[in-house]
Amino acid sequence: MTKNWTPQSWRDKPALQLPNYPDKDALKETEAELGKLPPLVFAGEARSLQASLGDVALGNGFLLQGGDCAESFAEFNANKIRDTFRVILQMAVVMTYAGSLPIIKVGRIAGQFAKPRSSDTETQGDVTLPSYRGDNVNALDFTEESRVPDPQRMIKAYHQASATLNLIRAFAKGGYADLNKVHNWNLGFVSDSPLGERYEQLANHITDALRFMKACGITSDNVPTLKETSFYTSHEALLLPYEEALTREDSLTGDWYDTSAHMLWIGARTHQTENAQIEFARGINNPIGLKCSPAMSTDELLQLVDILNPDNIPGRLTLIARMGHEHVIEKLTPLVQAIKKEGRHVVWSCDPMHGNTIKSSSGFKTRPFDRILGEVKGFFQVHKNEGTHPGGIHIEMTGQDVTECVGGAHAIGDEDLSSRYHTHCDPRLNANQALELAFLISDELRSLRKDESFAHDSLTAAE
Ligand code: PEP
Ligand code: CO
Repeated sequence: MTKNWTPQSWRDKPALQLPNYPDKDALKETEAELGKLPPLVFAGEARSLQASLGDVALGNGFLLQGGDCAESFAEFNANKIRDTFRVILQMAVVMTYAGSLPIIKVGRIAGQFAKPRSSDTETQGDVTLPSYRGDNVNALDFTEESRVPDPQRMIKAYHQASATLNLIRAFAKGGYADLNKVHNWNLGFVSDSPLGERYEQLANHITDALRFMKACGITSDNVPTLKETSFYTSHEALLLPYEEALTREDSLTGDWYDTSAHMLWIGARTHQTENAQIEFARGINNPIGLKCSPAMSTDELLQLVDILNPDNIPGRLTLIARMGHEHVIEKLTPLVQAIKKEGRHVVWSCDPMHGNTIKSSSGFKTRPFDRILGEVKGFFQVHKNEGTHPGGIHIEMTGQDVTECVGGAHAIGDEDLSSRYHTHCDPRLNANQALELAFLISDELRSLRKDESFAHDSLTAAE
């Protein structure tokens, strides 16, 4: 049991990035209402994810975490959920095939609403209003009324998360994720692209392997893991009134779990050791992510690791580095060295999105695809240099055909951004770009596997 911790103990700490609700009574009533609603996930599921991430921390597996920067009420529909799920499946199959490693799939979904902002206010012309903080806080339209934080939005977010999770569970366990359907995941605009063709070739190999296995008597009827998958949910643990209300004591173990998602992470703006979000995260037993920005020192990181994972449990803590393509080698190396020297078990994951955001000449916030790839390559390079395991990737992506990040096989240019720019916050990879990234990672994983088997072969030869 964590010392001096309760689900409310964050309230005694300084808190950044929380909305200032004008109606405190309404907030209290909403918190009580949320507190009575059923948990969205079961503690046992969070433990399974932690066990899988534990394997990743020890070098066996790779974490694929992705989804919207911000989910929204307006873009909530079944097709969108299915398309995100489908691209994550496609990416996972590509990476599993190349890396011969289990890929742990975690969506930024079913609760990823709240957004930290660099400024408390936004100015357009001569009007200044409170910033948009995510659909579970206020609305995006630039009007005074829309920007007032409304606690009832947390209830709406809860119900949207619940319906999203319901569909995801159905897809994961109800047959959509059956490996025999590997070709069907490639429908739509992706199948006509060069990446779609490359995917199709890989899917043919898998189909051949499945045919061979069937001839040997192994089918999805007698080996259910062929037709089911595990898919977990995650979001930033930012809006603490929501997270506290969904934090429940597990009846099996007596431990506390935040049942709003399987995994929660702490953002780059709210990881001060003395502050509310860290206080909250240290006491919940879900696997935790921690964003690491270029400003983080090794001392600060080790202190946070002590607070968040005092017992050094593999899988409890995922460090999500978001350094920017030009800083990744220089800034990530000392952190990786410090963690290795101290013998800390962590999953190292790479967020190549948040350090590579620029304003395009057309005025849109965008991310050049080649910089995203550059950061991923740098991340693998650092781990190769240090002999540590590159454990995962954390991306903002969608299954839709959006034009938000420039570059990629379809060479989206500045002038194309306005055509399908739908994000409520940061620019996301579209399905083609996400698949292209998966192939790059699969090449890295394949070369890692070769190095490992080479090392293993030379070891056995020497014995
Ligand atoms: C995010 O993941 O959407 C985000 C705000 O990231 P960071 O905290 O790393 O800036
Ligand atoms: Co973002």
